[in-house]
Amino acid sequence: MSIGIERKRLEQLKKELNFHNYRYHVLDSPVISDAEYDRLLVELKTIEADHPEWITPDSPSQRAGAAVSDKFNKLAHPHPILSLANAFNTDDIRSWVERISKLDERVLNAEFVVEPKIDGLTVVLHYEDGVFVRGATRGDGEIGEDITANLRTIRTLPLRIPVEENGPIPPHRLVVRGEAFIYLKDFQELNQRLIEAGEKTYQNPRNTAAGSLRQLDSTLTAKRPLALLTYDIVEADGPIPRKQWDLLNYLKAMSFPVSDQVEFCPNLEAVIKACEKRKETRDLLSFEVDGAVIKINDLELAASLGFVGKDPRGAMAFKFPAREVTTVLNDIGVAVGRTGVLTPYAILEPVEIGGVIVKQATLHNFDFIAEKDIRIGDRVLLKRAGDVIPYVMGPVIDARKGGEVCYKPPSVCPTCHEPVEHFNDEVAWYCVNAACPAQLVRNIEHFVSRIAMDIAGCGIKIVEQLIEAGLVKDPSDLYGLKKEDLLNLEGFAEKKADNLLEAIAASKRQPLNRLITAIGIHGVGEVMAADLAKKYPDLEALSKAGQAELMTIEGVGPNIAEAIVDWFSVEGNRQLIRKFKQYGVWPVSDISTSKPAGPQPLDGLTFVVTGTLPTFTRDGAREYIQKFGGKVSESVSKKTSYLVLGENPGSKLDKARELGVPVLDEGGLRRLAGEKA
Ligand code: IVH
Repeated sequence: MSIGIERKRLEQLKKELNFHNYRYHVLDSPVISDAEYDRLLVELKTIEADHPEWITPDSPSQRAGAAVSDKFNKLAHPHPILSLANAFNTDDIRSWVERISKLDERVLNAEFVVEPKIDGLTVVLHYEDGVFVRGATRGDGEIGEDITANLRTIRTLPLRIPVEENGPIPPHRLVVRGEAFIYLKDFQELNQRLIEAGEKTYQNPRNTAAGSLRQLDSTLTAKRPLALLTYDIVEADGPIPRKQWDLLNYLKAMSFPVSDQVEFCPNLEAVIKACEKRKETRDLLSFEVDGAVIKINDLELAASLGFVGKDPRGAMAFKFPAREVTTVLNDIGVAVGRTGVLTPYAILEPVEIGGVIVKQATLHNFDFIAEKDIRIGDRVLLKRAGDVIPYVMGPVIDARKGGEVCYKPPSVCPTCHEPVEHFNDEVAWYCVNAACPAQLVRNIEHFVSRIAMDIAGCGIKIVEQLIEAGLVKDPSDLYGLKKEDLLNLEGFAEKKADNLLEAIAASKRQPLNRLITAIGIHGVGEVMAADLAKKYPDLEALSKAGQAELMTIEGVGPNIAEAIVDWFSVEGNRQLIRKFKQYGVWPVSDISTSKPAGPQPLDGLTFVVTGTLPTFTRDGAREYIQKFGGKVSESVSKKTSYLVLGENPGSKLDKARELGVPVLDEGGLRRLAGEKA
């Protein structure tokens, strides 16, 4: 390459890398793969190694991390938060040790510690007299962002280091470095919950952890299952262990979470073995790793070796091969989830990725396809992380040939062909046809559940049997079941059939609010159903209500009002209502007696219940509060009078604290309602 071209390439690389750095660290939305980024960085460093005179302070090779955004206050690190040089194979590890042993021959007999390279975000945690006082992101390595409030939400982060008998006394000032991340299982559960709520799912645990840590509202962070593992002490004003292995145990003894996947290696050969084994077994870990970190155990020896740029010579990252490939997107399929959410997925030209043949991958939601401009026929970048289902990161725009076709989300459900619905503030498209076969099991399950029609003994297995046998095509069919139908099913004898029929018949006496809950209108839970039943005497009256009228009911906003009107406009649902009437499932609420008799000490007060109460069920607590004139709401707001707190409360408690909403336990609630202590 001529000098001129090389110089031009360098400038281009700097520009590109700075842009990708910004996308990754500030926007949490990378547009190229990590492997691609690493390749560009290696190319840049190679040119710079040949022409050190070209290295400028703004070169991406000169910084440890990202630009600091102005969303948060800045927090200077007590020492630079360094990064690590990469080794991509065992030869690289050997030549690293060879190189540094030339600087200090003690390295030849050195011991090492090998740790998982957790694919998360560096966090820097400041403690004063054992109390967590501040915490920051890495930022540019010198200055991070103050994310103290968000870090406090991580349950394994010690807010105070407990001082145990025979345990270490924490130094007056202590700064610990660790990695915040999300366990794979928690990530999958989080996405499952989001799918059910019709919300956007997250791409991968790392970006989710990044986005969560950099939330401006820490009550949102608290809802994300962030985890922490620590591995380094950045600063301490007292004596600390001089060996990495002892330091990890010291951190553990102070109650910091430390990975149990750390390994003591007496020599280089043990290091090589450990790294190779880790590469093979990375899928067995409960969190994502992108490599292993090799550290010289003797921390003083390590420190005396100094740095190359921002990378200490005494440690090295052994990077695992990226599990990213490209392949052709042959088509886009749509799955209907049990809640009716339509989820697009990629139908791919089969491709091997990390030893697994992949033919399908998630495309998250329709917005994602539009945002990334993914077209059918595109070459797409695929990533597989841990044992998580592979996902499409985006199209390879440069590979376009011109014949790629833009994708339009379906306007009808691919299973039942009824029109699909979109609720305003959600990204998901739904099939709202209660009789859609794809959702039937879930609908019936909800219909018979304890909070709805409460049909005892009708578990999911029976629901599935009834549907499979063609006996139940919508919830009203339960009321047409005959004993001989049931006796034909596997596992049904006289007694079981009688019990089930009895429970079904008994459910006809359930009040209107339960039937409204049972039919499962999007966004209409128990509390709202009770409010609707106070205003409308039966389902027919409710079906005639217009959006504006519905919105006069407290708690019913435009989205829910629209969902109710839409639900009753679907022909399948109208027919369902007619069938309920024919079967005598027709509760009528006495709207004149909607105010219960008796003293009303809770009149004018609004309660939110969270956690498990000692003697009340959730339903029971609600009924109790309403009986004494109080209102129950689902979420804490400024209007909440009290939060009723049970065991294992969720984020509602944090919200209540933030808004200064007073908290009561069950006893307090009973006393307020006038019960004697
Ligand atoms: S040690 C000088 N140990 O990997 C100390 N880093 O590029 C350098 N990481 O930014 C860090 N697990 O965010 C270390 N067990 C571990 C790690 C780890 C993950 C991250 C860390 C760092 C990056 C290195």
